[in-house]
Amino acid sequence: METPIVVGCFAGLLITISLLQPLARRLGLAPSVLLAMVGTLIGIGAIFLLNTKYTDAFNTIAIVFVDPPLDAEKILYIFLPILLFQTSLTLDVRRIFEDIGPILVMAVVAVFAATFFIGLALYPLGNVSLVACLLLGAIVATTDPVAVVAIFRDIGAPARLGRIVEGESLLNDAAAIVIFILLLGILTGSHELDLAKALMAFLRSFIGGAIVGALVARLFVMLLPIMRDLPLAQVTLSLALPYVIYVLSDQFADVSAVVAVVSAGIVFNLYGPSRITLEDWDFLHHVWDQIAFWASSLIFVLASILIPRLVEGFQPIDILLLFVVAAAALVSRALVIFGLLPLLSLFRMGESVSTKFKTVMLWGGMRGAVTLTLALSVSEHQALSPEVATFVTKLATGFVLFTLLVYGTSLKPLIRLLGLNRLSARDEALRGQFLALALADVRQEVEQTAQDYQIEPRIADPVTETYAERARAAADASQAFADLKDKERVILGLIALADRERYLVLNHFNEKTVSRRAIALHLATAGQIADLTRSEGRAGYNKASRQALRFRFNFRFAQWLQRRLKIHRPLAILLADRFEYLLVCRIISNELVAFNHTRIRPLVGDRVGTILNDTLCARRDDILRAIDALRLQYPDYSDALETKFLRMTGFRLEDTAYAMAHSQALIGAELYNDLHGDLMRLRHETRDRPDLDLGLQTKDLLAKHSLFADLSAEHLSDIARMMRPTFATPGEKLMRKGEKGDLVYFIASGAVEVRTGTDTIRLGRGDVVGEMALVTGKPRSADVTALGYCQLLGLSASAFRTLLQKTPDLKAHMDRLSSERQSMNAPDASPKPDAGNA
Ligand code: CMP
Repeated sequence: METPIVVGCFAGLLITISLLQPLARRLGLAPSVLLAMVGTLIGIGAIFLLNTKYTDAFNTIAIVFVDPPLDAEKILYIFLPILLFQTSLTLDVRRIFEDIGPILVMAVVAVFAATFFIGLALYPLGNVSLVACLLLGAIVATTDPVAVVAIFRDIGAPARLGRIVEGESLLNDAAAIVIFILLLGILTGSHELDLAKALMAFLRSFIGGAIVGALVARLFVMLLPIMRDLPLAQVTLSLALPYVIYVLSDQFADVSAVVAVVSAGIVFNLYGPSRITLEDWDFLHHVWDQIAFWASSLIFVLASILIPRLVEGFQPIDILLLFVVAAAALVSRALVIFGLLPLLSLFRMGESVSTKFKTVMLWGGMRGAVTLTLALSVSEHQALSPEVATFVTKLATGFVLFTLLVYGTSLKPLIRLLGLNRLSARDEALRGQFLALALADVRQEVEQTAQDYQIEPRIADPVTETYAERARAAADASQAFADLKDKERVILGLIALADRERYLVLNHFNEKTVSRRAIALHLATAGQIADLTRSEGRAGYNKASRQALRFRFNFRFAQWLQRRLKIHRPLAILLADRFEYLLVCRIISNELVAFNHTRIRPLVGDRVGTILNDTLCARRDDILRAIDALRLQYPDYSDALETKFLRMTGFRLEDTAYAMAHSQALIGAELYNDLHGDLMRLRHETRDRPDLDLGLQTKDLLAKHSLFADLSAEHLSDIARMMRPTFATPGEKLMRKGEKGDLVYFIASGAVEVRTGTDTIRLGRGDVVGEMALVTGKPRSADVTALGYCQLLGLSASAFRTLLQKTPDLKAHMDRLSSERQSMNAPDASPKPDAGNA
């Protein structure tokens, strides 16, 4: 085969692929459907040219297509890692983790169900072994959701549904391929058939793969910052990652290479963004989109070119088999979607999905590039008998084609039939509202442009007026739903606000005033707020925004590390994150209040506008309270963060000024590059967040505590060394009644609540809590909970005793306090108003 001809054919394929894209859009079909059709035609043409007696002129070209120079193993090795890696790179991983339960169940159960259904249905009809039938089942078990997800997005299906389908497809690729490899092992004789063993092997290879992938990806992520500001190098490194992992796990680690690649993609996607700039990350994504586009399009064309050759030997029985595969696949998918999904929502593991959407999910079960890649890899497998190889490849390829041609072309009509493409009244009103907002924006900008360019009003006015009119018409359209209840309008307003929030967050990020970590956190919150508002209305909005301020498990864990093991760093990092996050929240909540006032209120009316305003203000108050609490705790740190914020803004403005001067030819390229370089360096130095030192303040806090006010500086230092500064969050349980006492807290700021069982007492700054158990040796006499954010100074039991020995005054005080509190708690005692610190 001559190289120029092969290269020429390759170029021809690329031209075909690109020209088919606009055609697919015009015809309203998924591009893969057209690619498969055209590929088949190319295949038929090539066979015809090769066999025809009329001419031999094209034989050299035809042979390239009939017998492509890429063998199956190469196809598998080249394409599979990229396809899988790219899919996991595009997922909204954080959100997918929220639904990991249903996704995992759906993915793994659905794949097993399909493999068994298809395998068992084929076995009595085909003349190959059961394992070969199961192998086919595994290959066609994995679905390709691109078409469904795109359609879900078009018709405004709940975002969560789309995420579940996407997550499911990624994991079902992994599960199907693991089963595929196991079965292949059995077929080629390297494994024996033993269900228990096979299951263990499945688990080992799945979990092992996940671990290997995650570890290697972490390593690669750590390398990224070395290539700072060199996006081309970063992309190159990322391209190597799936291949490194694939080879490593396939050849050396004996774990599932596919699972490893998927897990690497997820880890890279999770940690990558915080290591490189937003522009570089976007660039990386774009390049990956392009690579995956090439890979999947080529796979489609290459595989479909082979179809005619495979079909040559197609006999009537094969058509029957194909229908059996299709029917079994449909039934097993229906069982999972209609049987398992409702079960999951019954156990509150997932949202309940309407029957219409379930129907679309069922009909959208198209098979794609992964199935084709596996089918091709089997076609030339040396260790497989030719009958098995042809049987599997023929049916798998045929089935992909079948799903594309039948499901792919009928999905949109089905959606129309189900009425899913019609906007609901609420969506229609939302659309009107949205348009009105957008058009009002455009109008303002056009007006401004006209002023800037000094275009006469005579010319400008008619143009701006058309926008004004359209905005009014859109507002009227949403007013046409005036019979919408206030409650509905509040929801519409909140949805618009939630969407606006995402926009604002991204804006702040683009202006480079805040770190990527804070933004990632904020984007996740904004998404959650939008989702919950859509499903639960105002209560959902409030719930999501409150949840965003809550301390999560990782925070509690970091606190535990700091308190028990004296490891400060994790808590310091989390607090710093929280601080930055809250500062962004505050800016954005102010912007939202203003946005509501100027834009939303005019559309939804005063009454609803006021409700929205109240909701926003309540949220802002929560944010302010949280900031105040932290500011109280770390005044210097909050100052440093605010300074940084301002400096970054300064850099941005400076940069814009230079760029403007350069574009206006006020300064030359050399000077501009010089200035820009200096600025980048400075910005880089400022970018790192100031360190949060948790240890420093102990002595200050101690000096402020009334109990220690009179002690000498030297004595104070001694005590400070023994103390553990602790930060408690609202609602945190500090002590439990009946427990053994092992420490005492001096309250430096904030307040705690003591519940003895009969009384509830508040203690605040300057008070001591937890001393009774240490003085009397009895168990804790009450439950103690932090009321707000508190700074506490903790002292262990032994340090407490040493301190009392050295400081007789303090000992007398503690004894008195303890016995006062005891007598107050005695069953016959009347409660005293003040049992705080004297
Ligand atoms: P201890 O018993 O170690 O744990 C619970 C703590 O709650 C207790 O020490 C006191 O510090 C505090 N406490 C118990 N009863 C009272 C009370 N009546 N007034 C104030 N504080 C109390």
